[in-house]
Amino acid sequence: MKNISIAIDGPASSGKSTVAKILASDFHFIYVDTGAMYRAVTFLSIKHNIAFSDESALANLTKRYPITFKPAGQGQLVFADGEEITQAIRQPDVTAAVSEVSAHGNVRKELVKAQRQLAETGGIVMDGRDIGTTVLPQAEVKIFLVASVEERAQRRYKENQEKGIEMDFEAIKEAIAKRDYLDSHREVSPLVQAADAVLVDTTGMSIEQVVTKIKEIITAKGF
Ligand code: CDP
Ligand code: CDP
Repeated sequence: MKNISIAIDGPASSGKSTVAKILASDFHFIYVDTGAMYRAVTFLSIKHNIAFSDESALANLTKRYPITFKPAGQGQLVFADGEEITQAIRQPDVTAAVSEVSAHGNVRKELVKAQRQLAETGGIVMDGRDIGTTVLPQAEVKIFLVASVEERAQRRYKENQEKGIEMDFEAIKEAIAKRDYLDSHREVSPLVQAADAVLVDTTGMSIEQVVTKIKEIITAKGF
């Protein structure tokens, strides 16, 4: 496989990170989870008592505490401010606040800079909300993953149960719908399908089927 960049965007729980990790592993590419970076800043803001509305203090946090990844199995560990925060950034308190934190232009500016640096070498699968539109507009392959909110909530509910996170189904569905709305309606780099992205509706599709479909799209593009 050529050293291309693959951008995978879409709403919460559409399967981006699961599919991106498999593709990166199959192609021996780097995987970058940009959502983990916005979650890490949100985690740090809670830790350091910074208001989610305080844009300049939040932007300073991103400068002061670089977020780093370390590959582990098929996934990766996330570190910031001297600790491993892989699990902590998935907790409901971080999830509930991340869309407010990620809406600030100056927070995004810092993280986009870091994401572009990680992608400099090519051979990368990056997932998020604005990868195809803003972070890597030159990416050779752009995928926009969607699924019904009902199915996405079911997927997250099952995942939470496996991880021992207690949250009822309706609350998860509501939280996902709210985050989708905030992410799609913010002024800076909203969640939107890039003009040259391929839409894949994964409702009713297994992970394997989605991976196969994306590989077909990559092949059809001549890579
Ligand atoms: O995995 P999940 O879909 O729950 O979310 P995530 O990918 O971890 O992203 C968490 C949040 O970070 C999103 O709801 C967005 O508010 C923000 N985000 C963003 O604004 N831009 C990105 N490129 C990635 C995530
Ligand atoms: O990264 P994103 O929030 O878009 O989604 P994810 O974390 O990759 O997927 C959320 C959950 O849905 C995970 O538990 C996946 O195993 C599951 N999933 C699924 O059941 N079927 C798919 N086609 C894709 C993901």
